[in-house]
Amino acid sequence: MSNDRYLTFALCKGRLADRTLELLEQIGITCEEMKDKNSRKLIFVNEERKLRFFLSKGPDVPTYVEYGAADIGVVGRDTILEENRNVYEVLDLGFGRCRMCVCGPAGARDLLLHHERIRVASKYPNIAKDYFYNKKHQTVDIIKLNGSVELGPLVELSDVIVDIVETGSTLRENGLEVLEEICPLSARMIVNPVSMQMETERIKGLVNSIRAGREADRV
Ligand code: PRP
Repeated sequence: MSNDRYLTFALCKGRLADRTLELLEQIGITCEEMKDKNSRKLIFVNEERKLRFFLSKGPDVPTYVEYGAADIGVVGRDTILEENRNVYEVLDLGFGRCRMCVCGPAGARDLLLHHERIRVASKYPNIAKDYFYNKKHQTVDIIKLNGSVELGPLVELSDVIVDIVETGSTLRENGLEVLEEICPLSARMIVNPVSMQMETERIKGLVNSIRAGREADRV
């Protein structure tokens, strides 16, 4: 009976969704409609496998999955940590690798060492708060920004930032550096806890095929 039910995927718009679709193609799951970049359609269906896909903004992916509007989501670990939703993380997809770091001018290193009350700008206020308050036991003022966070120290809005570092070129070009590393990041597959119980076989099958596809790629 459960095979008649569509399994719904929420994918984070952009590069992560493209990489996820490539991965699914490798294991024989295609969704041709989704490749049409000019389409304004929001939901795409693979009738044969009874799968549905939709694209959303990254921070909304864990929300759709927690409420069961999507059974499965693919999103960066940064977003999973920041949103802190009730979802199961079932697979590290291995792409989108980068690091969450405290960054700033070299001179800010001392402020971190001496546990000064500093200003921290970030698109990830919950991750920043957890790191400074719970791990470092340092009281700081956190300022939420929505992007181009590296501007924070440059225009003296903040002493440091908590942000994603991938190649490090944004930092270098702006005279900033990694001061402390918080955690490694990559794309993860998340699952709604009820879906995991109701559709265990289908979801496990999918996870195992993706894992096997990735391992075959490595050899
Ligand atoms: C991200 C991140 C850094 C940059 C890091 O920003 O916030 O600014 O990429 O990458 P790099 O180490 O390879 O330079 P994104 O491009 O997503 O835009 P945003 O600044 O608007 O968040």
